[in-house]
Amino acid sequence: MLVLGVETSCDDTAAALLQDGRTILANIVSSQDQVHGPYGGVVPELASRQHIKNVLPIVDGALRKAGATLKDVDGMAVTYGPGLVGSLLVGLSLVKGMSFRSGIPYVGINHLEAHLLAIHLEHEVPFPYIALLASGGHTLLYSVRGVGDYVHLGGTRDDAAGEAYDKVAKMMGLGYPGGRAIDQLAQSGNARAIRFPRAKIKSSAFEFSFSGIKTAVWHYLKSRSEAQAEESADIAASFQEAVADMLVCPAIKAARAHGVERIVLSGGVAANSRLRSKMKEEADAAGLSVFYPAPKFCTDNGAMIALAGYHWLKRGRRDDFTLNADADLTL
Ligand code: KG4
Ligand code: ZN
Repeated sequence: MLVLGVETSCDDTAAALLQDGRTILANIVSSQDQVHGPYGGVVPELASRQHIKNVLPIVDGALRKAGATLKDVDGMAVTYGPGLVGSLLVGLSLVKGMSFRSGIPYVGINHLEAHLLAIHLEHEVPFPYIALLASGGHTLLYSVRGVGDYVHLGGTRDDAAGEAYDKVAKMMGLGYPGGRAIDQLAQSGNARAIRFPRAKIKSSAFEFSFSGIKTAVWHYLKSRSEAQAEESADIAASFQEAVADMLVCPAIKAARAHGVERIVLSGGVAANSRLRSKMKEEADAAGLSVFYPAPKFCTDNGAMIALAGYHWLKRGRRDDFTLNADADLTL
């Protein structure tokens, strides 16, 4: 079964072709970082305009890369939420139009579900597993018991982990999005130089909070003298260490509490080098296995949408043309 996956929920225009749920024939992403960078965050109106400009060339490019035409495609999958409504509508309208014209069935995909399943693009990970989804818009913990069987365990009380990365990067003048820049800068820094606070939620072991550390970094930056300006790498490394701590502890606790032996990372922040190494260290110590996708499958991509679509199409699901974009879609 050849599935075309299309993703336009935020600021990446992406398309992929996936054969039988395992062979990626094409996976193309057009990032809008250059467009939004000067504003220090995603500007929704600009994002939808960019998607309109890019989506057809990206879908055409993916088909060409796969050596396929639309006639070869058995089913299509497109993100219909959550995300920016204007952005979502671009991909969804295109796929609905293509489906109407060609008769090829399509399914709308929940973006969060696609992140939770993305690990299967490269690894055979048996269910159940604890999934930590940390991206620019979400920080969520799920017990994934099978396709379509997700138990929500906790989430962030305020900012998402990626949002904290992006805001701290902005404060440090590292540009947008800043997660990767902080990660790179942290490589030459001392993670023990500054002890930033680790938020703990008393009422739940599986909840997160990142607004406190953001404010702590802001105060630190304001209070340091000019002479200390060269400390940037230490600040990046210390911040990264604290965020990794705050993400790793609840995931390990969740695995223990639910008697689950595997932890899977996903979302853009799962590309973070310290989160990956720390999760591995702690999981090894607790006798758990940890799996993470390659960085290109952690951030938004069409292959994970095609994969989720493959599972639903195989089960016979078909969406009709009344499906609408849902900015606040939950799982
Ligand atoms: O999953 P994603 O591509 O988009 C959303 O659905 O949000 O995640 C983007 C987020 C951004 O906040 C970005 O700064 C962060 O992931 N990110 C990272 C790294 N690479 C991307 N954060 C920390 N370390 C990284 N290496
Ligand atoms: Zn995402």
